[in-house]
Order: sequence, then structure tokens, then C-alpha cells
Amino acid sequence: MLRFDTIASLRQHLAGLRVSQSIGLVPTMGALHDGHLTLIQQARQQADVVVCSIFVNPVQFNNADDLARYPRTLDADCALLETVGCDIVFAPSVDEMYPAAPSLTLNFGALETVMEGAFRPGHFNGVGLVVAKLFNIVQPDKAFFGQKDLQQVAVIRSLIRNLSFPVELVRSPTVREADGLAMSSRNRNLTPDERDQATTLFAALTLAHDLLADGQTPAQAKAAVGDFISARPAFRLEYIEIANADTLMPADEVLAPGQTAICIAAHLGKVRLIDNLVF
Ligand code: PAF
Repeated sequence: MLRFDTIASLRQHLAGLRVSQSIGLVPTMGALHDGHLTLIQQARQQADVVVCSIFVNPVQFNNADDLARYPRTLDADCALLETVGCDIVFAPSVDEMYPAAPSLTLNFGALETVMEGAFRPGHFNGVGLVVAKLFNIVQPDKAFFGQKDLQQVAVIRSLIRNLSFPVELVRSPTVREADGLAMSSRNRNLTPDERDQATTLFAALTLAHDLLADGQTPAQAKAAVGDFISARPAFRLEYIEIANADTLMPADEVLAPGQTAICIAAHLGKVRLIDNLVF
């Protein structure tokens, strides 16, 4: 596996490969887990050259503590990437990616007004900027993103359409621990006790799913999840929403198979967790 820290050196290397080979990009912020490794494996199957970027993007954090606490484990990440056949890791510095504070802002319209957009103002601007930069630097044929960040997937789809990037977006299913907890780099910041309790999020999604499958309305399912989380004082619920899985706009009824998403965000101690189920 080759490692590049500068945009120029990566571009130069990829220019030679691109002539005859397809490129798959897996953008990450590091602290890699099996969810990321699954994305790399998927990219391995679908592209000739697999590039993983590792960059904790300051522009997408709207909370300074969250940015400071974000785990940084570059050496361990590189060792993991070797085990799944990643070809190239791109790990630029903040100065390399942002020699000056970005003056451009992106607005993803209605996606900014719901769930992550509403609770993390400016977050999707930061995600959009860095992913656009990565697309321009790597020029991948395909880019791989996890379903755990379902609204982010919709944002990237919008970015690709709006800016005509010749990139195919691949959404990969959420990878879960044996007890249902969605894998996330932030799980590392949970205390052992919080880690045990964190399964509540998946239990809440399962409850909503079962109620909807039983014929209850989204409003009834959301109210039941609200009660379920309130009974667990370690948690502070930010939102529970039933939405269209592609547009992420709230749905007041269950949609066609594969089209309904149940999305949740809650704080547990100092950690903010999100998860979703699409059914
Ligand atoms: O999902 C993430 O890890 C980040 O939001 C991404 C897509 C790598 C952009 O920084």
C-alpha cells in the first residue's frame, strides 16, 4: 500500500493509473472499524485501484469538543487497510486541504432543514466541500459511503448531480456489532457502561420498525420511541424521524418497500450517536 500526504503527489501517481484502470474512493475520517473495511472490500471488488482517504475534516464539525475528541489513529488505520487490500491511502494535513479557510459555502436545500441538517448547522457544507475536493483530487469512477450516515448519502447524491461529477455513488449497508450497535468511530469514546447501554438506539429503531410493520402510523411509532428513550435517563433524544429513504423528507405514512427510513440521533454521555433502519 502506498501512502500520500500531498495532493500533487497523489494526482501525479493516479494520472498514470487512470489511463487503463478504474478508481474506487472510500472517504473516511480514520479511526477505522469493520464498517470502513467492508467499504474497502466492496471497492476492491468493483474497482481496479482502491484509494482510502483519511482526513478529520475540521470544516464539518460544528462543535469544537467533538473535533478535539475525534479519535486519530493513523498508524493503526494503515495497518488495517493493508489487511483488506487497499492500494493507496491519502492522509493530507489540514493545511494541505485548506491552505486558506474556504470561502465557498454549499447549501443542500431541504436536506439542511431536517435531522442532521437541522441539528448540525453547517455540517453538510463541510462534508460537501471536502468530498468535492476529494472527488477533484482523486477523480474516482466510484465512491463508497456507509448507510449509517444516510442523510450524508443524500447530500453526496445531490453534490454529484448539482456539480455533474462523473462519479457513481455506492451506498453500503450499515455494519453492526453482534448486539446491534451500529459501528462508528465515535463508539470508541463511550465508557464501558455507556457501550453496554448504547444498544438502546438499535432497540428503539427495532421498536419503531415493529410498530410500523404492525400498522401503526409514523406519529404513533415516533411517540412510542420518545417514551422508550425517556425511560432511559442516560440518553438525551435529539430526534426520531420516519422519512423517505432517498430524499430524507419526513413521511407521514409507510412508503413502498425499501423506501422508508427510521432515523434516530441521541446523546449518551458526551457522545452523539446516530443510526437508521431502511425497510
Ligand atoms: O463519513 C465520514 O467519515 C465523513 O463525513 C466524510 C464523508 C469522510 C467526509 O469527511
